[in-house]
Amino acid sequence: MCGISGYIGKEKEIKFLLDVLKRLEYRGYDSCGVAVEGENFYLKKIKGKIKELEGKVKSVNFYRGIAHTRWATHGKPTSFNAHPHFDCKREIFLVHNGIIENYMEIKKNLRKHHFNSQTDTEVIAHFLEELLERYKFKEAIFKMTEFLKGSYALCLFFKKDNHLVIIKKDSPLCVGKLKEGFIVASDLPAIIPLTDCVFILEDEEIGFLKKDEFELFDFKGRRKKINFRRMTLEEFKAEKENFPHYMLKEIFEQPKVLRNLLSFYFEEGRINLKDLNFSQKYLASLKRIFIVGCGTAFHAGLVGKYFLEKYCQLPVEIDVSSEARYRNIPLKKDDLVIAISQSGETADTLASVKEAKKRGAKILGICNVLGSRLTKEADGLIYTLAGPEIGVASTKAYTAQIFSLCLFSLYLAQLKKSQKESILNLTKKELEKIPEYIEKILEKEKEVKRIAKRFSKYGCFLFLGRGINYPSALEGALKLKEISYIPAEGYPAGEMKHGPIALIDEYRAVVCIALKDSLYKKILSNICEIKARKGKVLGIINEEDEEIKSLVDEKISLPSLKNFDLSPLLVAVPLQLFAYFVAKNLGCEIDQPRNLAKSVTVE
Ligand code: AGP
Repeated sequence: MCGISGYIGKEKEIKFLLDVLKRLEYRGYDSCGVAVEGENFYLKKIKGKIKELEGKVKSVNFYRGIAHTRWATHGKPTSFNAHPHFDCKREIFLVHNGIIENYMEIKKNLRKHHFNSQTDTEVIAHFLEELLERYKFKEAIFKMTEFLKGSYALCLFFKKDNHLVIIKKDSPLCVGKLKEGFIVASDLPAIIPLTDCVFILEDEEIGFLKKDEFELFDFKGRRKKINFRRMTLEEFKAEKENFPHYMLKEIFEQPKVLRNLLSFYFEEGRINLKDLNFSQKYLASLKRIFIVGCGTAFHAGLVGKYFLEKYCQLPVEIDVSSEARYRNIPLKKDDLVIAISQSGETADTLASVKEAKKRGAKILGICNVLGSRLTKEADGLIYTLAGPEIGVASTKAYTAQIFSLCLFSLYLAQLKKSQKESILNLTKKELEKIPEYIEKILEKEKEVKRIAKRFSKYGCFLFLGRGINYPSALEGALKLKEISYIPAEGYPAGEMKHGPIALIDEYRAVVCIALKDSLYKKILSNICEIKARKGKVLGIINEEDEEIKSLVDEKISLPSLKNFDLSPLLVAVPLQLFAYFVAKNLGCEIDQPRNLAKSVTVE
């Protein structure tokens, strides 16, 4: 949700810490702040982006400091609610990512304290100030973790002590070892440009850092071993290269990402899911599967459901994680739950996993971030290998998730002998062609840009799809909503007559996914119903489809597939480009859309 960073070591210029913070800005960007200690102490926090903060800070040198970029949960984005927060004596300074669920209870016992903000976080500083009345600094830190409820990654310092303290519970936190000192951040891409020697904190760990010392304990005060590991820059390179936005760069990265998956998981035509870690016996015995995920990950899961049911002849249930975690799902021991998450840190998905494990289910994690919590909680994994995804609107991770679900379905179908070998081999062959097909679609960038310009005048969109492309319609609508802020709904086309058709008139636009698959005739009649009510239609069609060209107002044509079950992998791309160019045409802030954050680490 928020991005936090910290540093302790050889003297640096304040810009050093803000540069690290900038690499975390996709996590939250409504306000930010920094507190550093060098010859003097300096604190600055603003409502707005790090660029503005950079323009306002004094150029001071420091040897210990913390910084924060915020996604507001408690208290509006203001300079008062921005982090770092501090106590009454202005001796304790801290930054926080997460939510303190019992902050009101704690605050009730801090009546004599003066609060400057509406945040849950500031309560921690005053609570620690209170504990320091009775305990030494380190003891007070351990004591504090006994009372705090919720999720928190904290980085703090106390002027009367010479440590930088880091605490992790539920929210991500990692440390990089530098020549003379340590850098701390919410995720690895922020640290890797400075060092390849990193340590990812586990849950309920507390670290005390000095320039050349790092002590680690668990919440009970027991000392823990610290194993730094090497990570290459290549793994975490997240530059925009020559693209105007990370989102567009990540859309154009999809052929490479899917080729990575093919070369990593295909060996001589056989699928080898290296980190799956489930016995073939267990997989072959599976009776049903349950899928959880949020937002785009949920949509990828929905495509996976269609694929798994068809190829593995297994009943598959799916739900958004925020519902699944509170539903009493009658999971049986050894049922398989597939949890999909790009970041691996989404709180609702992690909570669903926890609930499922309590019921004895096994967890298959489909994840994009090495070392993330989901990769620790899951019994088996499929890494989507898409590289860092910085654009808040997920694109390459989505097609990589669908691709991974297809691979898993084909692998499982082979084990369960639930599909003819010939169909499995044909589908594998077709999967190998997908990157090339996507390259062809990306060549239509200018065409999509022209169409997006024409359609960006419409104030409301419907996205319609049938069968395995119903989820594609949901995802197309989500992409447009997320970055252009235009109201858009994805709907199974067959549902249109049961309500949404009331929305149709000459001021509304409808994007119809109308490929020549078994449901083609059905979607064709839906388009006729829309045209009969003067609705404007953008058709996602097959190149060779002449019949439909006269029916739609605009069209984006896709290469034809021998197996339409793979079509969501192609349909995703023009819908991503369309959303991108509509938002660009409206001058929206594409990589950091308002009110959103890349990884939702709080409920
Ligand atoms: C997608 O563009 C959004 N950023 C959002 O819906 C996202 O898919 C959702 O928050 C899930 O994130 P995850 O895959 O990291 O769990």
